[in-house]
Amino acid sequence: MKKTRIVIIGTGAVGSTTAYTLLLRNRVDELVLIDANHNKAVGDALDMNHGMPFLEGAKVWAGTYEDCRKADIIVITAGAAQREGESRTDLLKRNVAIFESIITEVLHHNTHGIILVASNPVDIMSYFTWKKSGWPANRIIGSGTLLDSARFRYLIGEQLKIDSRSVHAHIIGEHGDSELPVWSLANVAGTELQISGEEKEEIFVNTRDAAYQIINAKGATYYAIALALDRICTAILGDEGAVLNVSTLLNQYHGVSDVYLGVPCIVDRQGVREIMPIRLTADEQKLLAQSADKLKGLIASLR
Ligand code: NAD
Ligand code: LAC
Repeated sequence: MKKTRIVIIGTGAVGSTTAYTLLLRNRVDELVLIDANHNKAVGDALDMNHGMPFLEGAKVWAGTYEDCRKADIIVITAGAAQREGESRTDLLKRNVAIFESIITEVLHHNTHGIILVASNPVDIMSYFTWKKSGWPANRIIGSGTLLDSARFRYLIGEQLKIDSRSVHAHIIGEHGDSELPVWSLANVAGTELQISGEEKEEIFVNTRDAAYQIINAKGATYYAIALALDRICTAILGDEGAVLNVSTLLNQYHGVSDVYLGVPCIVDRQGVREIMPIRLTADEQKLLAQSADKLKGLIASLR
């Protein structure tokens, strides 16, 4: 049987935690770690390999771009991360410069895989990757608002004292300050949420601002995003058809085109197979359009 391989580029806090999560959950046969600081990748690979007697036998090594050749998925978590007081979009110019060289290297060695982007601002980095690659958009995926939707579901679950896995609720738009909650579709077992307007506002603000809270407290976020990236990789490798709020190229989606944003997508071996045509209220549509306009303005500023 063909071995499954995931390459992770950027083994900082997010990349190394993602690698460890994939290993613990036995998701892949081969895991390759690449970082501009090769020693960091070497150290991480050694550290993880020393856990092999307690694991299920995946191969992990610190590699080079040549290893992308046989990769099913290339996860990009490289680049600058927010410092206290910075927004995700403040990282744009630094991370576009870093992506220029990373994407060139990846394309040189891989023509068939799926690129999963997590570096911020993730929607614009995904759009940039899609443009630069010339690949079909279904094979360039951003982690989008999957993490935000998980935070949202967790907070709703806490409020209702219901397991967050039983809460169906979506954050869409930018993975960042202009994202929006789709309260009109939020439900538990098809029933409307018994939450007041004030509580809803508090839940949404805590969802949107969660990263600032964590970065102020400990400098970076990495556990929940690693689980979200693991979820996307599993949906791809397992050809699941899972509905996940990832960032994808929109084309006349509630009037929005030519930008990557987080929306519910069906994810399988092709990457994003389809975007779910969810219903939105007029207010939600307006907020989605504003989120798209914000990102388009930033993309235009790069030209
Ligand atoms: P980090 O500083 O811990 O790690 C970044 C790593 O990238 C470092 O090891 C660095 O050496 C490496 N790197 C830099 N330039 C490189 C290059 N050209 N090639 C290969 N590697 C290179 O940062 P982090 O906390 O792991 O965050 C990484 C990125 O992920 C940031 O942009 C951050 O904002 C983003 N992030 C996204 C989400 C999300 O939901 N999408 C969540 C958390 C963090
Ligand atoms: C997050 C990162 C910082 O945790 O984008 O939301």
